[in-house]
Order: sequence, then structure tokens, then C-alpha cells
Amino acid sequence: MADSCSPVIPRHVAIIMDGNGRWAAARSLPRAIGHREGTKAVRRTIEAAIGQGVQYLTLFAFSSENWQRPAEEVTDLTGLLRYYLRNELNELHESGVRLVVIGERDRFGPNLAAELAAAEAKTEHNAKLTLVMALSYGGRADIVDAARRALAAGLAPDQLTEEKFASLLATDGIPDPDLLIRTSGEERISNFLLWQTAYAELYFTDVLWPDFEGADFTMALAEFARRERRFGARPE
Ligand code: FPP
Repeated sequence: MADSCSPVIPRHVAIIMDGNGRWAAARSLPRAIGHREGTKAVRRTIEAAIGQGVQYLTLFAFSSENWQRPAEEVTDLTGLLRYYLRNELNELHESGVRLVVIGERDRFGPNLAAELAAAEAKTEHNAKLTLVMALSYGGRADIVDAARRALAAGLAPDQLTEEKFASLLATDGIPDPDLLIRTSGEERISNFLLWQTAYAELYFTDVLWPDFEGADFTMALAEFARRERRFGARPE
């Protein structure tokens, strides 16, 4: 066994949480209610990930493109994020969750950016689960930022290996996702972890994010366990 977790449990699961709007529309409710229900699914998923022994969970909570939504919805989403942090941080901390934020946090304003930094600092020594929150995150921007860092550091072309480049991404120190889940029936990567998901198993489910339960997470892990991963190599 390569490490402390079973070989069939993905070490890192990344999720594109999609379908909050459709969940609300199906009930003639405002989209904000769909997002609020989405935070309950976030809580259930963190519990399920801990229960299954997953070590890293990355959630696409706000994409770079989400800023283009109507101002009211952006306010709802950032408000929910602030509310989530203030209300759930202690419980996350007690459960042994380390919070890591990737993305352009400064775009949320100095107060929320400072709260995110404080939450990271408070939980930095926790080791049960690393919860990576992708906030104002875009995969292409992450890659361009890494290229800029390489240039700024004056790296010679032959010094820029894949390992070096990966260390310049926002996810430095975090292993690549083994499994990428997207809910709501859409089957796209949508500018999420473009570099990091090169070898991830992709799992799509029709379940809308607010309906996503621990059992759905377990089903995705069971499907992962059935797949044979070869990383481009030929079978033995
Ligand atoms: C997609 O649903 C989801 C989002 C844009 C954001 C995800 C946010 C949450 C789950 C809640 C906030 C999370 C935290 C951690 C505070 P959509 O609006 O695109 O749904 P649709 O495609 O059905 O319209």
C-alpha cells in the first residue's frame, strides 16, 4: 500500500457543484434559496469525505466567470460565503479540517479576504481533511499566473519542468485530484482545475447539487474504485 489510505479511495476529490439555480427554479423559489440549500450539501459532502477517508476535497464554490452574474446573485453568493465561514468554521476546525483557499480572494474585498486568511491560519495544522475552496478561481488564470511567476523568477527554459510548473500553481503542495465530480447533468470542466485534472477520473451525475447526499458521494467513490487507472501507461 502506497500510503495510509486504501488504494481504492481517491486521495483527492474535486467537485463542480452545479444545479442550485435549477433546483430552485423547479420549486419556483429564488436562486438564492438554491444556493443556500447548496451550502447544506457542502456540509454533508465534507462529512462524507471525512467518513470515507478522503484526504483532500476541492470545491468549486465561485468561478472567475461567476462575477458576470447579476449583481444581486453575486451579493447572495458572497453573503453566503461570509455566513458559511462565520457559522461553520469552528465546527470545521473541531472536525480536523484544514481550509485552503485558491483563486483571486482579493476580489471579494479586504474584509472577506482577511476572514478567509484568518480561517486558513486557524486551521492550518489540522490534518483530517484539507478542504480547498476555489473562490473566484479560473484554471486558465491559474496557469497564466504560474507562467508569470516563472518569468518573474527569471527561470531559464530548461529549468521549467512539469514539477516546477506545478509548484507555481495555486495548488502547490496539494496532490492532483484523482476524481472529479460534476453534478446536474452537465459534462464540462468549465475552466476548473485544468492542469491538475489531467489524469482525474471524471464522474457526472444528474443529481442537482442541493440534492447531493452522502450516498451520492459514496456512489461516485464506488465508481472510481471500479475504474482501472493507468496514467497513459499500457496494462501489465
Ligand atoms: C452552481 O449552481 C453553483 C454555484 C454557482 C456556486 C456554488 C455555491 C454553493 C454550493 C453555495 C455556496 C458555497 C459555500 C461553500 C458557501 P448554478 O447557479 O450554476 O445552477 P444552475 O446551473 O442550475 O443555474
